[in-house]
Amino acid sequence: MQTITSISQLRKLLDNHRMAEQSIGVIPTMGNLHAGHMMLVKAAIQSCSFVISTIFVNPLQFGPNEDITAYPRTLNEDKKKLDIAGCNCLFAPSVEEIYGFDPSKSTVIQVPGISELHCGKSRPGHFEGVATVVSKLFNIIRPDRAFFGLKDYQQYLLIKQLVKDLVFEIEIIGIEIERESDGLAVSSRNAYLTAEEREIAPFLYACLNDVATAILNNDRDYRRLEKEGLQKLQEAGFHPDYFSICHAETLQSANAKDDSIVLLAAVTLGSCRLIDNLRIKIA
Ligand code: PAF
Repeated sequence: MQTITSISQLRKLLDNHRMAEQSIGVIPTMGNLHAGHMMLVKAAIQSCSFVISTIFVNPLQFGPNEDITAYPRTLNEDKKKLDIAGCNCLFAPSVEEIYGFDPSKSTVIQVPGISELHCGKSRPGHFEGVATVVSKLFNIIRPDRAFFGLKDYQQYLLIKQLVKDLVFEIEIIGIEIERESDGLAVSSRNAYLTAEEREIAPFLYACLNDVATAILNNDRDYRRLEKEGLQKLQEAGFHPDYFSICHAETLQSANAKDDSIVLLAAVTLGSCRLIDNLRIKIA
C-alpha cells in the first residue's frame, strides 16, 4: 500500500486510475483505526476498484475545550491494518498541506439546520470543521463513493446534505455500527474508559434498546420516553448530554405519525464522551 502526503502527488496518481476507468472509494478517518473502520474498508474494497483511506486529525472540528493533542495517533499500526485489509492507498497529509499555516483563516462550510441540533448544540463549530475537511477531501480525491460509519449518524446525514447541496457527484454509503460482544459501539474513544467505566458503558446501548422496545410495543409518548431514558442513563452513572427520539432523516423531534425513527444519545462517562443510536421502522 502506498502512503501519500502531498495533494499534488495524490491527484496525479488518482488521475491515472480515473483514466483507466477505475471506480474510486474513500474512507475518511482521523486514524487510530478499529474494527468499525475496517468494516468501512471492507465495504469499499467490495464495491470499488481503487480504495483510499485518509488519516487526518482535523484541528477545525475540535472545540476550545477539546484537547486535540490527546487524540490517539497510531499511524504505524494503522498502516499495517490497512495494508493487511487490502487498501490500495493511504493519504496522510499534514495540517499545513490541508489548511496552509493558519487553519483558523480557512474558508469554512456550514450545513444549516442539521449541524445545529444534538451534538451540534454541545460542540459548537464541530460540524463546520467536519463539513470543511470532508469537502476538501472530496475535492482532492473526487471519489465515486465515500464510506462513513453510522455510529456518527448525525455526521452521516450532514455529509449527505452537504453532497446534495454542493452537487458533489459522490455516493455516500453508511455502514452499520460495529459493536463489542456486550453491545458497546466500537470507538477510538473507548480507550479513554477506566475498567470501571468500561463495565458501565454498554448500558448506553441497553437503554436505547429498552426504549426502542417500548416504541415497538406501541408506546408513542416520545417526550416521556426521552425523560425516562435520560433518567435511566443518569442512574447508571453517565452524565447524559441528550437522549432524543427523532425523525430518522430530519433529526427533528419525532411525532407519533413518523414511521422512520432514530433514537440518539450522547453521554459523558469520566473524561470520555460516548455517542450511540438505534434506528427503527414502525410498521
Ligand atoms: O468521523 C471522523 O472520523 C471524522 O469526523 C471525519 C469524517 C474523518 C472528518 O474529520
